Amino acid sequence: MNIKKVVIIGSGTMGSGIAAHLCNADIPVVLLDLKTEIAEKAKEKILKSRPPLLFDKSKISSLKTGNIEEDFINVSNADWIIEAVVERIDVKHKIYEQIFKKRKKNSIVSSNTSTIPLKILSEKLTDADKKDFCITHFFNPVRYMGLLEIVRENNNDKKKIDLLKDFCEKNLGKGVIICGDTPGFLGNRIGVYAMQIAMTEAIKMNLTIEEADAVFGRPMGIPKTGVFALYDLIGIDLMSDVLKSFKKELDNNDEFQKVVEGLPIINKLIDTGYTGRKGKGGFYRINKSDGKKVLEALDLNKNKYFPSKKIDLKIDKVDLLKLINRDDKYGKYAWSVISKIILYSSSLVPKITKEYNDIDEALRLGFNWSMGPFEMLESIGLKNFFTKIDNINKNSFLENLKNQGLNNFYDQRQKYTNIQTLGKIKKLVLKVDKNESAEIFRFKDFNIVEFKTKANALDYNSMNALMNATDKPLIIINESMQFSAGVNLNYVMNFVLKNDLKSVEKFIKYFQETCKHLKYCDNPVISAPSGLALGGGEEVLLQSNYVVSHTNIVMGLVETIVGLVPAGGGCKELLWRWTQTNNAQKDPDYASLKVFDIIGYAKTATSPQQAQPMLFLDKNHEVIINRNNLLPFARSIIEKNKNFKPPSKCNFKLSGEQVRQKMQIILDDLYNSKKILDHGMVVGKELAYVLSGGDTNLDKEISEEQMYKLELNSFMKLLQTENTQKRIKHTLKTGKPLIN
Ligand code: NAI
Repeated sequence: MNIKKVVIIGSGTMGSGIAAHLCNADIPVVLLDLKTEIAEKAKEKILKSRPPLLFDKSKISSLKTGNIEEDFINVSNADWIIEAVVERIDVKHKIYEQIFKKRKKNSIVSSNTSTIPLKILSEKLTDADKKDFCITHFFNPVRYMGLLEIVRENNNDKKKIDLLKDFCEKNLGKGVIICGDTPGFLGNRIGVYAMQIAMTEAIKMNLTIEEADAVFGRPMGIPKTGVFALYDLIGIDLMSDVLKSFKKELDNNDEFQKVVEGLPIINKLIDTGYTGRKGKGGFYRINKSDGKKVLEALDLNKNKYFPSKKIDLKIDKVDLLKLINRDDKYGKYAWSVISKIILYSSSLVPKITKEYNDIDEALRLGFNWSMGPFEMLESIGLKNFFTKIDNINKNSFLENLKNQGLNNFYDQRQKYTNIQTLGKIKKLVLKVDKNESAEIFRFKDFNIVEFKTKANALDYNSMNALMNATDKPLIIINESMQFSAGVNLNYVMNFVLKNDLKSVEKFIKYFQETCKHLKYCDNPVISAPSGLALGGGEEVLLQSNYVVSHTNIVMGLVETIVGLVPAGGGCKELLWRWTQTNNAQKDPDYASLKVFDIIGYAKTATSPQQAQPMLFLDKNHEVIINRNNLLPFARSIIEKNKNFKPPSKCNFKLSGEQVRQKMQIILDDLYNSKKILDHGMVVGKELAYVLSGGDTNLDKEISEEQMYKLELNSFMKLLQTENTQKRIKHTLKTGKPLIN
């Protein structure tokens, strides 16, 4: 079996998400639905999806749509047939009957069910057909969620399952975890239990929903949607169906049964259309008051909505031990939730999996937790955990650990794959150097720098780590969600508020020096981004010698949004790349105008495929669909470039006032049509000044140093304006840009 053609039946959320991702991998796919539903609608939804399900809209050409009455014939030449219809066993059984009549012998058939056991799905199949049938449980949104659980039974054709695993790992980039046929498999079994615990403990301890979300969120290494906002995001009705299924499938004495009912208010919310974000709202809602949109939160005691209160626990780094030892209600809540999650997860080893590591990975890949329950235990420390816990309830996994008297037990990450991932290799390190913002992992023939701040925002220390790690080939990579959201604006604003502009200038200069050093030092520098690579993060990429890019990235120079211009070499380097194009040879103003457009509009690319045409990526880049492969590919670049020579210096010929006049016409147009306002004009003019080369003309040459200076001057000038400061403060407070 070789997977070259796929048919998906059911074109709803999951069917269309899986179809889009197969398109990303250039695998021809046919998407079928009921005749009345017309899968064609799914195609439009895919094209309009936000965040985009496709790497690039052109990828849609691998997709064909149809209906199960007229187009079922496609099943007969598909290598893999995926069923993703509604979660109803009668409907699924009927579909399987049709599929197994038509499918070719060599094919494999799978269901995307999240709750129905494999043995029930396959109960009507012949023994021979059962061999080729399994569950492939993708997570929503398919492009972005790393986890794929393959649920198999003992009599499956093992070779085929291995082949499917291999295909999904290599072609679809998934972290594929093979699971047994137990309720909720691994991810949902623990992930949904954790949500129910977080919810019920919050009520018991009388925490508001905002307080619970503030604790069961970033401080625990869990996405900021926490529990209640996550319920709203998934859909309160969908969660209720999932829980009904758990109630039915789990043993009566399973701990999960104690919290499976959740809150009494849930039924009322569903009945009144408060099903979450897709409905009128849920635990949170947006209400209009005096023409303004206000975020409101449900008060669970009063059953009424009130304006949502921001809870600040004043934590910027995950430190579980510190969190659970806090002498306040938040510390008590955190301990109660974390300890219960650890107790439950460990009680299920080896019942649901022999490999505790797989449970952690399922939570990391399927729920975006930065640590799974066992890593949480490791991070608290076994001795601390056993001192604090009252009763481990005959939990043999924990008893075993306790008897061994160890403090640490965790071996390595990503056991589910043979790939030499970053998680694995960090365990083989020779030496670690670190500062507040980054760590340097030193190996025999290369170094790794991993940024360590919130969203990997960059400051002086981040640059210092890079500067100190180029004694060998350097790979800049990290395990957290974002490569880097850009320069730490909080860090910059703290200086501004103290009127200490000298320190800002010192930092920006050091940022520039570091990026210049990355580009020209004797060893190759390879950046391997995933997630956000914005502003300063993108400037690090632009000035690395090679980029190994994950397909899930957001790249861009977005400084103008906060009223600034890129000043870490972003303007300079992007401009240099554009001056090397054919069009720039014909028109001396082409490159400046192109970059003025890209940076002026703060254009972003949501995949490497989109980043390349904007030259955010140049020819020295690789595109990687499986995030685990970023490090092995980066290492192979070091191997291939044993005789690395840094690039030669670049000098610019720019037309100064000549191209500035063209840019001014563009700005005037935007201003007159009210697309930009007064401050937009100020920022636009500064950007024009930098990208035109300042006071120059085509007869003069400008060095990179001069370009850095122009960037710095404009940056400092804009930073001192009231309007830019207002924008930065707004973004820091709300996480959103100030639009006007
Ligand atoms: P959905 O309700 O969005 O889509 C189901 C689709 O199946 C609809 O387009 C419907 O017209 C179609 N359908 C119904 N009967 C059909 C038939 N006889 N032939 C062809 N098409 C038929 O559902 P969703 O969310 O996409 O779920 C699909 C499956 O994936 C379910 O088994 C669900 O449990 C599972 N799942 C859902 C996740 C989610 O987050 N929504 C996550 C993981 C698994």
